Amino acid sequence: MLVLWSLIVAVLAAAVLLRTLWPWAWVEAPLVWRVLTTAVRLQRWARRRPPTTLLDLLVQRARRSPHKPFVVFEGRPLSYGQLETESNRVGQVLRDTLRPGDCAALLLPNGPLFLAAWFGLAKLGCAAAFLNTNIRGQSLIHCFNSSGARTLLTATELWSSVEDVLPALRSEKVMVFILDGEYAGEDVETLKDKIQAASDEPLPASLRSGVTFQSPFIYIFTSGTTGLPKAAIINHLRAHQMVNFITSCGIHSSDVLYTTLPLYHSSGCLLGICGCINVGATIVLRRKFSATHFWDDCRKYNVTVIQYVGELLRYLCNVPKRSNDREHKVRMAFGNGLRADVWREFLNQFGNIQICEFYGATEGNIGFMNCTGKIGAVGHINFLLKWFYAFHLVKYDAAQEAPVRGANGRCVEVATGEVGLLISKITPRNPFTGYVGNKILTERKHLRDVFCEGDLYFNTGDLMLMDHDNFIYFQDRIGDTFRWKGENVATTEVADVLSALDFVQNVCVYGVTVPGHEGRAGMAAIQLRTGADWDGEQLYEHVVTHLPSYARPRFLRQQEAIETTGTFKYYKVTLTKEGFNPATVEDALFILDDKRKAYVPMEEEVYQSVINNLIKL
Ligand SMILES: *[C@@H]1O[C@H](CO)[C@@H](O)[C@H](O)[C@H]1NC(C)=O
Ligand SMILES: *[C@@H]1O[C@H](CO)[C@@H](O)[C@H](O)[C@H]1NC(C)=O
Repeated sequence: MLVLWSLIVAVLAAAVLLRTLWPWAWVEAPLVWRVLTTAVRLQRWARRRPPTTLLDLLVQRARRSPHKPFVVFEGRPLSYGQLETESNRVGQVLRDTLRPGDCAALLLPNGPLFLAAWFGLAKLGCAAAFLNTNIRGQSLIHCFNSSGARTLLTATELWSSVEDVLPALRSEKVMVFILDGEYAGEDVETLKDKIQAASDEPLPASLRSGVTFQSPFIYIFTSGTTGLPKAAIINHLRAHQMVNFITSCGIHSSDVLYTTLPLYHSSGCLLGICGCINVGATIVLRRKFSATHFWDDCRKYNVTVIQYVGELLRYLCNVPKRSNDREHKVRMAFGNGLRADVWREFLNQFGNIQICEFYGATEGNIGFMNCTGKIGAVGHINFLLKWFYAFHLVKYDAAQEAPVRGANGRCVEVATGEVGLLISKITPRNPFTGYVGNKILTERKHLRDVFCEGDLYFNTGDLMLMDHDNFIYFQDRIGDTFRWKGENVATTEVADVLSALDFVQNVCVYGVTVPGHEGRAGMAAIQLRTGADWDGEQLYEHVVTHLPSYARPRFLRQQEAIETTGTFKYYKVTLTKEGFNPATVEDALFILDDKRKAYVPMEEEVYQSVINNLIKL
């Protein structure tokens, strides 16, 4: 009898303990189980020589189920087997050009060719650097050079971007190839015919004998806190980790994924494409996002899982309601940047879809995911996660743009419910691989001597908040980047472009929030040179020529003098708060007007139209 009672007491005690320690166990236990099993599998793959990379998974799937559709693009399905042979062909053609360990840059639109080139390069033991297809001119050259690539692979439709910078590439003896189309000027070779004629025999495994989990798989360009985009190194281990993270939210081989995100971003290529390979599912890939075609595509292809960024779901909610809005098979959506209001509206309009909202930077060493469905949260912190990632939220001084240091010189953790800067300890298990060949930029993401002498953290640059139930919420991004239309904009890059105008003396670029929009719209405060005149048309012309559309400042503010702090930093926080309302800002304000091809004065009624979402930004 005593034994029985002890047993009951023990079970009750355990239940109480579990409830206190881990109240969400019933939702999160399956997730934890999947995370643990994938971690064990990863260990096994890491021990193999050479280790099992995502490319190996693709090859295995192609061998086991060659006819299973892998990618459906513009109505045309391509099976795992077909992609395997296509990438063999690309690899065979490039074999004489590239050596194992080299890197080649891809400037390609979404489509099967992107995938064939990427995996073809991987089969040669080479890394691929994915260039943003919107960038041009100096930015393009900068990105290309920073990847260390000596070969550029592109497509006919992006040729005009390459042609602009061809002299610069030629002077560096860069090899440029067009993978499709007929164009063949004197100075560029198209590989289309060669690829079609090439053997589809697998490439010798010896080419990849030097590959380890630490070898770079791809380079992704990110606008970090400063300057021009940087190439973040994604090695094979990191790629696996990101992919496991996403498939652990419960995606299966019977699923049909749908992505309209660009493949040059880590979301599209790693979470979308590699996530699909990881479980052996099918992915419907679209050249570009279209709100009007979105649900028709989902119905046509029996899509079950969609991938988003916050803006995307907002655009879907803005399309006029249709009677068949709930007729689809979509059961899950995964992505990041979803605001609570859009989240609610989306579920209302399109039915009961499980939202897996996650947080994680491409180059970061930490990520969260909310698979519990708590609206607005990016994740739920349980003790296991806390043990796995040594992260903290610390007090941040926005004016000084630095973490607050206490009397002892150490950082200070915020209280529960308070906003703090997310930092994550750099450990062998959670490494920060940094940026290609750029020690200074890598160092800037480091935070040292945080809680004790000599410790080292990754500074995410993101402000977060954790509530009393351990749900974590994204609040804002600090410093010199902001997000707009799903892209990161580096304020320094925009400022550099504006400063090149001869009538501009000083410029300070920041992002402002606009009701009804995700992220921040670009704004610049400009001080003219003495005696110079404001020229809204020239400003427009200059901005449109040198910046991709998402990076162009939507609003300008002309200031007599731009105030700086003692350390010559601009008072961005004040400017950001003051915003672009002509009723409250005394300086002259301007708005980018594509119809009139100029920055035009912001009248009160224009401001009202922006606020009420009547003007497209
Ligand atoms: C979608 O599902 C329906 C019903 O299950 C089926 O008839 C149709 O062929 C499927 N379409 C595609 C593209 O798989
Ligand atoms: C998580 O998802 C569950 C179910 O979808 C939902 O009830 C909960 O509010 C969500 N929370 C998070 C953090 O996802």
